[in-house]
Amino acid sequence: MIALGIETSCDETSIAVYSTEHGTLSSKIFSQADIHANFGGVIPEVASRNHIQKIKPLYDECIKESGIDAYDLDIIGVTNAPGLIGALFVGVSFAKGLGYALKKPVLPVHHLSGHILSAELSYPELKPPYTALIISGGHTHIFDVDEALNFSLIGKTIDDAAGEVFDKTARVMGGPYPGGIFIQNMAEKGDRYKIKFPVAFKNEPKFSFSGLKTSVMNTINKGEYSLEDIAASFQYTVAKTLADKVFAVADAMKRDKVVIGGGVAANQEIRRVFNGEKGSKQVYFPEIARCTDNGEMIAYAATRFYKFRKFLNYKGSAYDTKHSIGI
Ligand code: KG4
Ligand code: ZN
Repeated sequence: MIALGIETSCDETSIAVYSTEHGTLSSKIFSQADIHANFGGVIPEVASRNHIQKIKPLYDECIKESGIDAYDLDIIGVTNAPGLIGALFVGVSFAKGLGYALKKPVLPVHHLSGHILSAELSYPELKPPYTALIISGGHTHIFDVDEALNFSLIGKTIDDAAGEVFDKTARVMGGPYPGGIFIQNMAEKGDRYKIKFPVAFKNEPKFSFSGLKTSVMNTINKGEYSLEDIAASFQYTVAKTLADKVFAVADAMKRDKVVIGGGVAANQEIRRVFNGEKGSKQVYFPEIARCTDNGEMIAYAATRFYKFRKFLNYKGSAYDTKHSIGI
């Protein structure tokens, strides 16, 4: 089966062709990060306009590089939720038009299930059941994924997402947007045990990062500690909180595999802490390039979800979570 994947939920326009027989045939990402960096965050209207300009040339390039003919595609997967509504709308409209022209089924893929399944692309032997953690700019969610590929939400953040706290901390420290890598680099020169930051909901599978965020801001403003020590202690607190909660869920659900996905999963400290705490469990982080938004994970997810035969009809809309597959 050959699938096209389309991802436009935030500030990356991305298209990929994935074959169940030969793996990824081509994958193209146009990141708008530099454009939005000027504003200190993603501007939805600017994102939509850039998706409109980029999507068709990117699709043409991707098909050309894959060596297939567009009619060789069996299915089209598109992120239809969650994300910026105008941005999603560009991808979904493009997918519908293409599906109509080529007479191929369009599968509306939930963005978070794409991030989770991304780990299977990096580890072909990996299959559910497993516990999954998604950490990105907009999400911090734990899911249980069973043998039949059903996703159940176990817990999530009640306020900020993990990536958001990285970005806000970086901003206060004078760093760029997005700020995850800035914090990671700053933390390399600091002491992760120097400052004890608060952890919310210690023994529950849900997150709250607003108390940590306030505490980090106050510590920066007081000026008693170096920014390096603050970055290292903050990053360690996030990593330890995520690992403790996810492994507790995996234990409770009797899962021996843990999958981590989303942009923040690129973080080296988070990888270090998870690998240090895993015990007899297996921990799967996708390759760094597969952590951030990409069409490859959506194409792959479409091939995994095909068995559900849940297709987008021409009335199907963007951000219609009732009709996304996966979650
Ligand atoms: O999944 P993603 O690319 O986009 C969303 O769907 O949100 O995640 C973006 C987030 C940003 O908050 C960014 O700062 C964070 O991922 N990020 C990192 C690192 N690389 C990216 N956070 C911590 N450490 C990193 N190395
Ligand atoms: Zn994402």
